[in-house]
Amino acid sequence: KVVSVIMVGGPTKGTRFRPLSFNTPKPLIPLAGQPMIHHPISACKKISNLAQIFLIGFYEEREFALYVSSISNELKIPVRYLKEDKPHGSAGALYHFRDRIMEEKPSHVFLLNCDVCCSFPLQGILDAHRRYGGIGTMLVIKVSAEAASQFGELIADPDTKELLHYTEKPETFVSDLINCGVYVFTSDIFNAIEGVYSQIRDTSSNYQSATRSVPADFVRLDQDILSPLAGKKQLYTYENKDFWEQIKTPGKSLKCSALYLSQFRQTSPHLLASGDGTNRRPMIIGDVYIHPSAKLHQTAKIGPNVSISANVRVGPGARLINCIILDDVEIKDNAVVINSIIGWKSSIGRWSRVQASGDYNERLGITILGEAVTVEDEVAVIGSIVLQNKTLNVSVQDDIIL
Ligand code: GDD
Repeated sequence: KVVSVIMVGGPTKGTRFRPLSFNTPKPLIPLAGQPMIHHPISACKKISNLAQIFLIGFYEEREFALYVSSISNELKIPVRYLKEDKPHGSAGALYHFRDRIMEEKPSHVFLLNCDVCCSFPLQGILDAHRRYGGIGTMLVIKVSAEAASQFGELIADPDTKELLHYTEKPETFVSDLINCGVYVFTSDIFNAIEGVYSQIRDTSSNYQSATRSVPADFVRLDQDILSPLAGKKQLYTYENKDFWEQIKTPGKSLKCSALYLSQFRQTSPHLLASGDGTNRRPMIIGDVYIHPSAKLHQTAKIGPNVSISANVRVGPGARLINCIILDDVEIKDNAVVINSIIGWKSSIGRWSRVQASGDYNERLGITILGEAVTVEDEVAVIGSIVLQNKTLNVSVQDDIIL
């Protein structure tokens, strides 16, 4: 048996996702029409002998209750939310719930960050791990040297794939091979974390004050576990050859939505919309997801990279490109939405325009409307972030509307 753990973090971590994170935890914000964590969860479902999936975080239980019960029913696999009373760090949180995780005596535990977007080659990681031995195997990928510093940089033995050296977000360049935030471990990982706790408790070593900048009950997987275990034949790497992105900003989530939609072409083509502007279906260009309950006028033109959630209405002549439209939004006649995320229950007036400013591809800067924002007729909202419940009756550009 194996189990999976997805680290979902908590409200303090989602500030870059404001105003969307005001009413929905970041891990539940839809990408390609499905909550962010739905994608790793469906990848877990494909592992043979998967017994349970745990989500560990410090969000309120009620924020995940609905999702957890519906996804458990849908996948026929128990998905449980385990709430920390406070953040314990990525390794501390795992250790905190060790009894629950090990309840069914799994041989292996997958550990996944909630905020990464990839095809999650979990079976490949597990098979490789069985060949390597050791405590754990992590998914790694080569990125550009400039991008590497935002991640854990590492050096692996080219032949044995052993993790030889690991530094979390180093100031000076170490390697363009980085940690993807996807791991498989044996139960020995709990002994390794226990070892760090006892080192911290052992005040005579002055370990806590000398080497750690975080509270004594806070244990990070990267700095406290991976770095010290590197080069000890305990940890191994598995290189990801497919797409991979980290999802720390709304601009990135729009990009990741595109990646998942294009993955649907291979894995679930039935989820992609089609239409050519006849038979009461709008014109669809490229990869588009439309929830079955949405109502779109046949003269609207949609795509590429558009995700439309439940109960959305799109009027005649509207044009949508590279955007995420959340539940219950109304987009009226001849409105244009480009490079944007439109929050729940918002309304875009006739002949209005909502779009990013400048070159989206360069900075991934997008326009975001929070929940229940009203853009009146003939108003342009360019490169702006609009907080919930605002009504815009004049055009704005490069602004934050509080
Ligand atoms: N439950 C819980 N409790 N989750 C946590 C906590 C905690 O105290 N702290 C972090 N997390 C979750 C986050 O929500 C995220 O899913 C994951 O653990 C890692 O978060 P961070 O520790 O903040 O690291 P990071 O995202 O900046 O970087 C990590 O991921 C990169 C890949 O995306 C590192 O492992 C990097 O090395 C790696 O490249």
